[in-house]
Amino acid sequence: MSELDPCTFVLFGATGDLTRRKLAPALYALFREGLLPPKFNVLAYARREKDDEAFRADLKEAVKKYAPDLPTNDDQWRAFASLCFYERGEFDQPEGYRALKERLDALDTERGAPCNRIYYLAIPPEQYETVIECLGSAGLAQAEEGCGRWTRIIVEKPFGYDAETARQLNNTLLTHFTEEQIYRIDHYLGKETVQNILVFRFANELFEPLWNHRFIDHVQITVAEDIGVEGRGGYFDQAGIARDILQNHGLQILSLVAMEPPVSLDADAVRDEKVKAVRAIRPLSADELQTAVVRGQYDGYRTEEGVPPDSVTETFAALRLHIDNWRWGGTPFFLRAGKYLPERVTEVAIQFRRIPQVLFAKMERKAVQPNLLVIRIQPNEGIFLQVGAKEPGPAMRLTPVDMEFSYKEAFPDAPIADAYERLLLDAVRGDASLFARGDEVEAAWNLLTPVLHAWQERRDTIHPYFKGTWGPAKTNDLLGPDRAWREP
Ligand code: BG6
Repeated sequence: MSELDPCTFVLFGATGDLTRRKLAPALYALFREGLLPPKFNVLAYARREKDDEAFRADLKEAVKKYAPDLPTNDDQWRAFASLCFYERGEFDQPEGYRALKERLDALDTERGAPCNRIYYLAIPPEQYETVIECLGSAGLAQAEEGCGRWTRIIVEKPFGYDAETARQLNNTLLTHFTEEQIYRIDHYLGKETVQNILVFRFANELFEPLWNHRFIDHVQITVAEDIGVEGRGGYFDQAGIARDILQNHGLQILSLVAMEPPVSLDADAVRDEKVKAVRAIRPLSADELQTAVVRGQYDGYRTEEGVPPDSVTETFAALRLHIDNWRWGGTPFFLRAGKYLPERVTEVAIQFRRIPQVLFAKMERKAVQPNLLVIRIQPNEGIFLQVGAKEPGPAMRLTPVDMEFSYKEAFPDAPIADAYERLLLDAVRGDASLFARGDEVEAAWNLLTPVLHAWQERRDTIHPYFKGTWGPAKTNDLLGPDRAWREP
């Protein structure tokens, strides 16, 4: 790998949950693996009074707690800590940004690094625009002439609250940065198994000819968690599962499954095809907003901390979507996501059509199962294909069996890294392929916003479900006769 450009990683939201859980462990893991540029600094900019040492101690605490396998009592840690700095300042005050600029310049001089920068917005979304505007006004958005070579900004999700706010956020970003400078995070794209969807589809001759409405009956995408809102009730109640999971992770997975082959693996070639797939999804009609959509709320949600007792925020959502193009016309895609479901699992289940029932017509219908291909995003990462096999014995009896690929077994010496490691490294390398482009994010919001508006108008369309079940019973109606949700 060629040597990476030196840079300073400017962290907004240094004391937040994301920094503690994900960013600190990911940066340190990259450092330990020698993957960061030889000249690299982390400069936190936050409101609390703190000095460099106190910030380093916070980082250490966070790594110990959230990445206990990484040693923090060795020279590697001390070397990493010595690259981390803290600058106190308000998010909305120009003098803070002047001080930030001075500190950045001083670091460049002291540490002999030219001023390439990555700004990371790990702050509450209502502060994004303030920070972006202030960076722009302080002259920090563009690389300085003769000094820096590049400046990038990473924006966390949620990216907007609906189609209009997402457009507005894009406009604010584009006033100060160019699209090439903007890295919109969807951490699912950093998962190996999500990237493998592209490889599985386009690096193998076997499946592509079958990957269409002629052979595939329907597709189910499930993003299930077995936990609730875990102390994030205040945030979650404003969002709901459709905004939190479906608009981003769910539709990103869908677009990778449904897209046409890109002309190359370049960031824009891949993203062009993904956005086309999302745009080809038929907008839900007024009728479908009632019949093709289910929203649920787990029993006990309204007593969670930070949740109003009359909340109608959904903790479960399921949708039936149709992609109106040549490949997918007539093959519905079903998406579901929820909290407190029976297990934590994210998977794509591709259900092939049934064979014509001639040869095995006398057998019980359920013995002759259609082929099923399951892409396991997490956990037990892998892929399996269900095929019919003859049971041993004198009778002609069929049983579905699995042909299985497991990441753990195939790559025992290459554990799967956390998605944030991959994404942070890509941002440092300047590769935006695994980040969402502005038009992709807007296309996803355009699809979901009418659903969210319909829910806002009708409080009575929320269905309760018990913890540990697969959501409201009504979810089964989405599939219609002869289809059932897979129980992973
Ligand atoms: C985040 C959501 O984007 O994804 C969380 O905000 C959710 O609510 C999380 O728990 C799930 O991520 P993962 O990687 O654990 O599947």
